[in-house]
Amino acid sequence: MKFEQVIALLADGEVHSGEELGNLLGVSRTAVWKQLKKFEGLGLELVSVKGRGYRLEGGLELLDPQRLADLSGQVRPLVSQLDVLGSMDSTNNLAMQRAREGRGHGYVCLAEHQTAGRGRHGRQWVSPYGRNIYLSLCWRFAGGAAVLEGLSLAVGVAIVRALSANGIGGVQLKWPNDLLWREKKVAGVLLEMMGDASGECHVIVGVGLNVHMTEGEAGQIDQPWASLSAINPGISRNRLAMALINELIHLLSGYQDRGFAGLREEWESLNAYAGEAVEIRAGDQVTRGVALGVNDAGALRLKTDDGEQLIVGGEASLRRPG
Ligand code: BTN
Repeated sequence: MKFEQVIALLADGEVHSGEELGNLLGVSRTAVWKQLKKFEGLGLELVSVKGRGYRLEGGLELLDPQRLADLSGQVRPLVSQLDVLGSMDSTNNLAMQRAREGRGHGYVCLAEHQTAGRGRHGRQWVSPYGRNIYLSLCWRFAGGAAVLEGLSLAVGVAIVRALSANGIGGVQLKWPNDLLWREKKVAGVLLEMMGDASGECHVIVGVGLNVHMTEGEAGQIDQPWASLSAINPGISRNRLAMALINELIHLLSGYQDRGFAGLREEWESLNAYAGEAVEIRAGDQVTRGVALGVNDAGALRLKTDDGEQLIVGGEASLRRPG
């Protein structure tokens, strides 16, 4: 597809002339500008260099399906299908579709760009083309929602492990499942469940990681955020994506039997708010207290004036009292 050829050309971060791009697109030089307007729809910043052409700030490392398929020997047989896609609405939607079709278990997909990336609390997840990682995995569980307690926290631990293996340290967890670096959000997790809450169900694990996003591309994000490239500028999206799939499939395949308890200590060691005064919002309800840690099911232990309370994930969110 022509448009993807143009992206591949600009991915080197060098200046390319209108004539070169025009030839590729099969349009006149004057029409190139109109075509390049499409970049705005992809959330990318294209720099126009006067008299010389166009440049994609910082270049892009596009996802390489062949490299991504090179998963660890233990994990590969557990992945039923791995799709690497260009632009799409939401990788979670696609994984959910596969689950509906009965092809969900072990399904993994990544996209370069999401037009309707979803975050928690009905928020949009900013998803510029080729900058970040947008990944969804689908896994079938027996035993219903109860088995899944703590899964979103466990996913946070798996992501931190994948980051460490890629030279990215200092990332902490914010209950239930945000990943922070110096109090700025670098990644988020959206779990969605399909099926019988008390029997067999499919879980879609959606992971969004800010890898190389620029200020201009992040535009509308309404909370402090950072890109992982601020921690390790040499980070590779392909290597990171592969490490993530390895860690997450490994986690999911053992979760039914093991649950969260075995990961609790590791989660606690990564807790960004350990021992701090916090407030928990769930709908209109606000509960204040001190974050003591989590229990074996992943519920937050909050010390309040009325004693210790257990807060379960769902729609709850934690913040510093403001
Ligand atoms: C959050 O709000 O912190 C969760 C963000 C989850 C975003 C990821 S990107 C891949 C997957 N597809 C989506 O539409 N959302 C998740």
